[in-house]
Amino acid sequence: MLLSTAVFAAFATLTSALPTSLKARAGGPAIKPIPASCTVADPFAQTTSAPSNFLPAPSAKSVELYAAYYPSFTTNTTKMAEQCLQQCYSYGNSTECKGAFWAENVAVPKGYYGSPGGQLETACVMYTRPLTEADFEAAPKGQGTSATARNIAC
Ligand SMILES: *[C@@H]1O[C@H](CO)[C@@H](O)[C@H](O)[C@H]1NC(C)=O
Ligand SMILES: *[C@@H]1O[C@H](CO)[C@@H](O)[C@H](O)[C@H]1NC(C)=O
Repeated sequence: MLLSTAVFAAFATLTSALPTSLKARAGGPAIKPIPASCTVADPFAQTTSAPSNFLPAPSAKSVELYAAYYPSFTTNTTKMAEQCLQQCYSYGNSTECKGAFWAENVAVPKGYYGSPGGQLETACVMYTRPLTEADFEAAPKGQGTSATARNIAC
């Protein structure tokens, strides 16, 4: 009894520490390690003009593959951004997601799981083609914080 409670508690802690709550909620892609044979690139890497906080521009909507909005589950933003890219990699047959955007304080779109939209949550958005600087715009103050964008080619 004591043991099974402990095991359950450990499991509950583990599941809440991972965006698998997201998976249950959204049928989101699993978090899978990205093989070393894949190339990960920053669409802003060619310039110094990347704003510190940014959001996908409205024009990027047409190449959106999948998006998830959730409360941050750790203070480690690097880790959450990394897991978003790993979910991008594991989407479908691991060839469909070519780029991912991750940031905190992103306005949830109207209608996301029936929500009225507008509340700020952590976002992981995946795309069907590699992203370029033109796919992003500077965020309003307090939004799109810790933003990262990465392209993945396997
Ligand atoms: C944050 O996560 C990254 C990637 O998983 C890891 O390498 C790093 O050590 C973590 N940082 C802290 C402070 O835990
Ligand atoms: C992966 O899935 C996409 C979309 O369904 C499909 O077009 C493509 O042929 C698939 N590739 C492989 C290697 O199965």
